[in-house]
Amino acid sequence: MSQRRACVIGHPVAHSRSPTIHRYWLKEHGIDGDYAREDVAPEEIGKFLGALGTRGYVGANITVPHKAAAYLALEEADDVATALKVANTVWLEDGRLHGTNTDVHGFLANLDESLPGWAVETEQAVVLGAGGGARAVVYGLLQRGFPRVVVVNRTLARAEAFVVEFGDRVTATTFDALTGWLPDADLLVNTTSLGMTGQPPLEIDLAPMQTGAAVYDIVYVPLETPLLAAARARGLRTVDGLGMLLHQAVPAFERFFGMKPEVTRELRDTVLADIARAQTR
Ligand code: ATR
Repeated sequence: MSQRRACVIGHPVAHSRSPTIHRYWLKEHGIDGDYAREDVAPEEIGKFLGALGTRGYVGANITVPHKAAAYLALEEADDVATALKVANTVWLEDGRLHGTNTDVHGFLANLDESLPGWAVETEQAVVLGAGGGARAVVYGLLQRGFPRVVVVNRTLARAEAFVVEFGDRVTATTFDALTGWLPDADLLVNTTSLGMTGQPPLEIDLAPMQTGAAVYDIVYVPLETPLLAAARARGLRTVDGLGMLLHQAVPAFERFFGMKPEVTRELRDTVLADIARAQTR
């Protein structure tokens, strides 16, 4: 059988850590495969995906800014991609372009691994941000049966759109009202870009949160954001965003290369070293 090849498609794409993750697993399992980076301009993405097979790829991961366009290019979208209208993983099956969104799996699997049993204890989650990351997070929390998910966003209209889309278990509000929601929050998730290297920190007072509550930041550069450092200092449980990145790659790798890989400590360290190298470049 010829070598199986997959890629990550973005614009820009140099920052993507997906090649490191997939190549690590290819090597670990001795699979004859390759995983490349493809920088594709927005006006070319439909054409590129239409010719994925001719380019020699069995599938691809999709990153910013192409996730919505990739969804539109699909011939078969699964339930998650259909619900979110964005695809981060596409593959060819019976000559047709299939797609899903593995960010939801990545978000939940990281939570399951970091806080075993979390879904049993939790009733209310507060999600900061209402962009693409928040869509996967809110959808995942609702799928796991959260009775209430409060979406807090700078622009209220974007949070309100979540209520229309995902139903009345979602409450929309702005940062002014955040303090009032924190005492009952079992889980606080940051999906905004604040706290990421090069961005201002997310300055919120965690004092109203109860002992035993957890704070999850989907940002992973830096690994410990100012928000997570503040949560840790208060004795709250914390979950960093690197696990989400690693876990979202698992179902994608399985589609591309036919076996389900594992997220291990060694993989995590390999990706962390890679991020550190990229930052000093
Ligand atoms: P992504 O797809 O990565 O989530 P996005 O769609 O650009 O990216 O969303 C970024 C999120 O961070 C949004 O919720 C944005 O708030 P707005 O909808 O009001 O723009 C939030 N965000 C970005 N910069 C912010 C800032 N300085 N203060 C508060 N929220 C901010």
